[in-house]
Amino acid sequence: MSTQGQAIRCKAAVAWEPGKPLCIEEVEVAPPKEHEVRLKVVASGVCHTDWAYLYETGAALRSRPYPLVLGHEGAGVVESVGPRVTRFSPGDKVIPLFLPQCGECDRCRSPKTNLCKKNWANTQMGVLADGTSRISCRGQQIHQFIGVSSFSQFSVVPDCSLTRISADAPLEKVCLLGCGVSTGYGAALNAAKVEPGSSCAVFGLGAVGLAAVMGCKVAGATRIIGVDVNPDKFEKAKEFGATEFVNPKEISKPVQEVLVEMTDGGVDYALECVGNVAVMRAALESTKDAWGCCVIVGWTETEEMSIPVETLLLGRTVKGTYFGGWKSVQSVPKLVQEYLDGKLKLDQFVTHKLPLEQINTAFDLLKGGQCIRTVITL
Ligand SMILES: NC(=O)c1ccc[n+]([C@@H]2O[C@H](COP(=O)([O-])OP(=O)(O)OC[C@H]3O[C@@H](n4cnc5c(N)ncnc54)[C@H](O)[C@@H]3O)[C@@H](O)[C@H]2O)c1
Ligand SMILES: [Zn+2]
Ligand SMILES: [Zn+2]
Repeated sequence: MSTQGQAIRCKAAVAWEPGKPLCIEEVEVAPPKEHEVRLKVVASGVCHTDWAYLYETGAALRSRPYPLVLGHEGAGVVESVGPRVTRFSPGDKVIPLFLPQCGECDRCRSPKTNLCKKNWANTQMGVLADGTSRISCRGQQIHQFIGVSSFSQFSVVPDCSLTRISADAPLEKVCLLGCGVSTGYGAALNAAKVEPGSSCAVFGLGAVGLAAVMGCKVAGATRIIGVDVNPDKFEKAKEFGATEFVNPKEISKPVQEVLVEMTDGGVDYALECVGNVAVMRAALESTKDAWGCCVIVGWTETEEMSIPVETLLLGRTVKGTYFGGWKSVQSVPKLVQEYLDGKLKLDQFVTHKLPLEQINTAFDLLKGGQCIRTVITL
């Protein structure tokens, strides 16, 4: 029986308040409005940002909309489309995008950025273009995390925040291209623009950091130094192309000093994939003066970074990147194809698979450092 035009009752993991485990609830997902698409979410990775949004405390918490459904690394199938949607049909395999590509704004028209701001203010506040969410529970509006909410069996997203992918794509793998893998890979290729023969340091070897290592290798870096406080990550990082490792807990001086000594003056590129301001500074200070470049990939809303002026004055640059610099709608299907062609690794990132009911276990695995990515099946 067709569900088009009707509300759908399904399961979702609801975050009722910050700092508390998610609750599996029956929610109602309204039909898509104009320029919106309703999708059946099939799989979703669990990203550090989901965890941090729920559990990181500080002033930023006051501006976070609760209750909400987290999850932004999903993949699924179109169930129905709203009025004026022309690019999607029921049955299409799709990846929802927390970063849209409207194709019309000044940012979409510029080759310099991927940061389309269409619906930005609304999605940051957990609602869609009309100021409301399509998800509700017992009559109460449930916000949508950065416009996606992939920890729900169904969700509704704007058509500019969705991309169609190959019908051959295994959704429980390519969901990782909705955030972590694309972000780290693009951070090396698009933001750092790593060059052949260069030296790189990647701080944090979670999914984002490992994808950055993969990007450094594809770009032809000869030295890729993995930095992590959890040495269990080193074996995996080797598979992705890391050549050396430093554990900041096992050295007697600051990690930046060790890296500068190892590379005779500093690395060409450092990528911070942790989300910790002290690590961001260490990453910057581990780069060579004159041309060293530090890319901030890790996310935090609760702290500020401080940098001695001379660090930059001598020629280093520090830059941030969102979703690895990829223009989302056009790039994600290409990354999916790279995976299908065997050019991009995804399988190696998936260490655990759990049903939605065990979403809190996925958070425990992430925080305990036991997993790279847990994929939630819905
Ligand atoms: N910029 C973006 O668009 C974007 C997108 C996705 C994720 N992120 C952010 O990227 C970061 C990484 O995400 P993830 O999902 O890979 O996280 P993760 O938790 O899987 O991995 C983080 C890694 O950092 C390591 N680590 C922790 N403290 C460290 C320290 N002091 N020094 C070195 N290593 C340390 C941990 O052991 C872990 O291996 C997070 O901050 C996340 O919010 C940003
Ligand atoms: Zn993410
Ligand atoms: Zn745009």
